[in-house]
Amino acid sequence: MARLDPHSYVDSDQRPPRHLRLDLAVDFDTRRLTGEAVLVLAEGHRGPLDLDTKGLSLHDARTETGAPVPFVLEPEEAVLGRRLRLMAPAGAREVRLRYETSPQAPGLQWLTPAQTAGGQEPFLFSQCQPIHARTLAPVPDSARVRLTYEAAITVPEALTAVMSAGPAGARPGPRPYTRTFLFAMPQPIPSYLLALAVGRLETRDLSSRSRVWAEPETIEAAAHEFAGTEDLIGKAEGLFGPYEWERYDMLVLPPSFPYGGMENPRMTFLTPTLLAGDRSLVDVVVHELAHSWTGNLVTNATMDHFWLNEGFTVWAERRILEALHGEDVAALSWAIGEAALRSSLERFGVDSPLTRLRTDLAGLDPDDAFSSIPYEKGSRLVALLERAVGRLRWDGFMRDYVRRFRFTSITTEEFLAFLDEKLPGAGAAVSVSRWLYEPGIPDNAPTFRSTSLGSLTALAEGWPQGRRPSPAVAARWTPSELLVYLQHLPRQLPSESCRWLDETLRLNRRGNYEILVEWLTIAGGSDYEPAFARLREVLAGVGRMKYLRPLYLALGRHPRTRALGREVYREAAPRYHSLSRRVAASLIEKYEDAS
Ligand code: BES
Ligand code: ZN
Repeated sequence: MARLDPHSYVDSDQRPPRHLRLDLAVDFDTRRLTGEAVLVLAEGHRGPLDLDTKGLSLHDARTETGAPVPFVLEPEEAVLGRRLRLMAPAGAREVRLRYETSPQAPGLQWLTPAQTAGGQEPFLFSQCQPIHARTLAPVPDSARVRLTYEAAITVPEALTAVMSAGPAGARPGPRPYTRTFLFAMPQPIPSYLLALAVGRLETRDLSSRSRVWAEPETIEAAAHEFAGTEDLIGKAEGLFGPYEWERYDMLVLPPSFPYGGMENPRMTFLTPTLLAGDRSLVDVVVHELAHSWTGNLVTNATMDHFWLNEGFTVWAERRILEALHGEDVAALSWAIGEAALRSSLERFGVDSPLTRLRTDLAGLDPDDAFSSIPYEKGSRLVALLERAVGRLRWDGFMRDYVRRFRFTSITTEEFLAFLDEKLPGAGAAVSVSRWLYEPGIPDNAPTFRSTSLGSLTALAEGWPQGRRPSPAVAARWTPSELLVYLQHLPRQLPSESCRWLDETLRLNRRGNYEILVEWLTIAGGSDYEPAFARLREVLAGVGRMKYLRPLYLALGRHPRTRALGREVYREAAPRYHSLSRRVAASLIEKYEDAS
């Protein structure tokens, strides 16, 4: 037995299945997916086959001819779940597993109608990255393995199902008042890119290869916000080569979605907090789209190489932004990322092994190790390499890299070998091993300048000495400029300062969540009561972990805000996604009890 992924039971001595067929009914009453997963075995498969499962109840396993397949479901292990070992008889071509998911499956969130924009129908969505696909279906749940898939998803008649796949029609369901949606995913994907959502959904075309899905209540806003998507695809193709997934569709989820975006192929999932009305948050779409090359085509082999997905994608995102809006806009995005990088370094400590790019997460839950390090340290390494060899050569390297590794999964070391082959000496010139294998940020990190950046940070850092922006000037700041300014203000301010900021910059009323949350982090940390109502509203309504973390952390600073934090948490926790709940609970637990 040889396990090549610390977070999977996949055994490298076995030939993994290459195709998956799902036939599932979505039952909102019991909060279960029930049905069948068919694993099409590799040509000439022999011997045992180990799969990952978590929380699944297995009822039956048979071959395509109906012959029983003996199986063992091993005892539960922390993080991993249960190994399912199938002993298919020689010559079997398929194993058909009848099973159901658990109502607590971490990969699924079941929403009541009250948690949706429409308030009439329930909603279901999945989030499989990093290792939750095994809570939806028995699969080889390692990014080293790729599968094509087909699915038949039966839902209540009023609802629509979407997946990370091409639509293949719909038909009346097997029971009254149900409908079955069919899907086919012809491009092989790692299991973490399996995705399903079910709800009352509408759609608008954005271009011939892109459309957005959302609840009817938000569809117009979504179509407006993401109207520029085709331009983004065009820019990205110019940089990285052809878009290989035929369609680029998006789904706007209810506000409990725990991330900003998830790059599910052919169906990016997005938080509704992006709907600012002014297209100021489309950088998240740019990011998820960029994963169509870095991540979905060239995939990290395991979560220890996660920086290959996110570092390259953040770098790509900022190159696309630069191509669209120029260098100054890109530099602001690098500056905004730097603030996130600093707070992750603070959270772990600069000597923590979790600040390495190549990690060793064996025995750890990858959700607990999640941070801005792979994103911001990773993207800085890519930018450094780009500067070292020059943009022209680097862009050529990137296209070669994508072409060479498309539809495969690679390790940090495979990337390094390819770098050495194509750009000999470049790695050594930037001390690439220090970047990859040592904690903290090396001192040759690239810096990014723009016309406004220096003056914005100086202005903010001069706050304690009485420096204030002129209200007329501040009114002309772009959302990114305002965000950079807020990020550089002291984290705790006297009440008069908060009032001045709130009134001059109208912060409590902001609809851009990046700005709003940055402000509320300061206001909460400053015990500024006029912001409490808005804090309550955001914490109770939005499940995006990127926002919950700084807000609950800031509320820990004062007795009164701790009480607020605890109270909102108690009320909101049942509506949070299990991941968001874990993050919020761990922060609340750390509150000092003297209140
Ligand atoms: N793939 C990630 C989200 C993710 C990572 C989910 C790890 C589960 C485990 C996605 O592409 C992402 O990075 N989203 C960011 C967007 C941002 C960097 C623009 C987010 O959600 O904030
Ligand atoms: Zn990403």
